[in-house]
Amino acid sequence: MTTTVHVDLPGRAYDILIGPGVLSQAGARIAAMGGRRHVCILTDENVAGLHLATLQTGLADAGLTSEALALPPGEATKSWAQLERSVEWLLANKVERGDIVVAFGGGVIGDLAGFAAAILRRGVRFVQIPTSLLAQVDSSVGGKTGINSPSGKNLIGAFHQPSLVLADTALLGTLPARDFLAGYGEVVKYGLLGDAAFFDWLEAEGPALAAGDVDARVRAVTRSCEMKADIVQRDETEQGDRALLNLGHTFCHALEAATGYSDRLLHGEGVAIGCALAFELSARMGLCSQEDPSRVRAHLRDMGMKVDIRDIPGDLPDAAGLLDLMGQDKKVLDGKLRFILARGIGDAFITSDVPREAVLSVLEDALSAPSQG
Ligand code: GLY
Repeated sequence: MTTTVHVDLPGRAYDILIGPGVLSQAGARIAAMGGRRHVCILTDENVAGLHLATLQTGLADAGLTSEALALPPGEATKSWAQLERSVEWLLANKVERGDIVVAFGGGVIGDLAGFAAAILRRGVRFVQIPTSLLAQVDSSVGGKTGINSPSGKNLIGAFHQPSLVLADTALLGTLPARDFLAGYGEVVKYGLLGDAAFFDWLEAEGPALAAGDVDARVRAVTRSCEMKADIVQRDETEQGDRALLNLGHTFCHALEAATGYSDRLLHGEGVAIGCALAFELSARMGLCSQEDPSRVRAHLRDMGMKVDIRDIPGDLPDAAGLLDLMGQDKKVLDGKLRFILARGIGDAFITSDVPREAVLSVLEDALSAPSQG
């Protein structure tokens, strides 16, 4: 089963192809895009070891030669140093305006390679071939590209839409279970922010999806991409509705900062915990029923995911310390914290009208609750 989601942006429209084996279409699709018949691939060492030969053989079958640069895996690669290395490598490989750069990896590679493509010769086309669930449902779609600064995550970047996304769901089979479930945090986010029926479906099918059900995986990636495409079409540069995609992220970014962006907490795990906290805050503010946060937490728990702050190993700052870390998040506007809250499952909205005391009390309770392991 293969599906296509179209991202309909004027002058920058592109398709997302989703399904097991779509990697094999890379050669034909990229050859049809024109440009030099030589493709430069940015990837990471793990993905290169597992899948690069398949990609390069497919490109060769379509008459394309290719060269790959495999960068170290991990968030630290989203740095000035690796950006410089990537751009200089692309220049050394004589990439010109009409050429195609391929981003072959998870969110780190997609963001870095996309940014390299955005600034190289003032912008060259690039194709996203996301290999992690998180990248397939979120970061490869919508054109946010960038690197981290010592001052914070994703603070340097550009909007630069890919020309094509190939989300091969078969590649998810080689992901460690923890990485898969972290990506699933972003899938749940879509149901919670705007599609209650999708959340119902995830409650029923999530365990099968995690166990490897091919059709369920395709359906989950497709629905997530449809929702993201719809939001990006309305608000490409996040002047309004695109911020809905940040459900759970204000809490998540504080927790990621508190854990030093280490593997104590993966981004998607922080998103899942953040979504549960955003629903808890919404319920306490009388915006949604108390059953909604319980349902969110029950589903995450059923999936074997981290649900509570206390599920994060090691020490954390106190509630005031976490609130300070939220204040450093880039989603602060005019000194006010911007939250995505919910009137119910599938009905999120953006607000800066959140009393500090309400956030503090949610954090205090979350920090003192016993871990359910
Ligand atoms: N990951 C959030 C966005 O693309 O806007």
